[in-house]
Amino acid sequence: MAGPFQIINEMEGRSVIISPSLLSADVLNMERDIEKIEREAEWLHLDIMDGHFVPNLSYGPSLLKALRKRYPDKFIDVHIMVEPPEAFTGMFLAERPSVLTVHAEATPHIHRVLQSIRHEGVPCGVSINPGTPVEVLYPILHMVDLVLIMSVNPGYGGQSFIPETLKKVSALAEWRRTNECGYLIQMDGGIGPDNTELAVSHGCDVLVAGSAIFGKPDPAAVIREMRVNAERGRQVGKKGNL
Ligand code: DX5
Ligand code: ZN
Repeated sequence: MAGPFQIINEMEGRSVIISPSLLSADVLNMERDIEKIEREAEWLHLDIMDGHFVPNLSYGPSLLKALRKRYPDKFIDVHIMVEPPEAFTGMFLAERPSVLTVHAEATPHIHRVLQSIRHEGVPCGVSINPGTPVEVLYPILHMVDLVLIMSVNPGYGGQSFIPETLKKVSALAEWRRTNECGYLIQMDGGIGPDNTELAVSHGCDVLVAGSAIFGKPDPAAVIREMRVNAERGRQVGKKGNL
């Protein structure tokens, strides 16, 4: 069984990892849209929605299979918003995600689901919705590679950022400092150049952005702008000015 904290090295002294959400890419021109950001973005974020855990449908494992075939070395960050996750993890694990993230709210057996992902040698992530307290994560933080704090209610792109969720990021950054954990902290929803500094100053390592990136004529330029703002956020965070 693979140990936890397999992807912390992805940071490599970076201020931030940007993971563009393909939910906002043009489905009929997915490859063209990925080419626009592939060199600039470290990761690709794939949102899987089941019309049950969240009120929307998106893709299935066949898209991950196609992406993996086309981009064998790309870090593909798969976020499954499905219930129960244990009914679907196998079919996604078969297509080699770089990290597989499941929701804590979607199963009474989150510990078991995370164990089963790790058992397959794939890094695992856990996510919580805006209405879920961060404390539910404390018993499992020692076994995850990534924690995804949703900054909108999952289901749709293009929603407004919920600032109260930043407190959870600060709590996770503090927990990581005082416990032997090496997870990355990710935020997803309503993120773009305007709030990148804020998110990174609170302790975010990985930012997911969909509409802010793919909704613009020059998506790569948006990522560069986010990176500059992230560096400012890192400096603020270091000074402890929060
Ligand atoms: C929401 C998804 C997000 C979404 C982000 O359910 O998990 O990844 O695509 O989109 P924006 O950046 O447009 O809020
Ligand atoms: Zn997502």
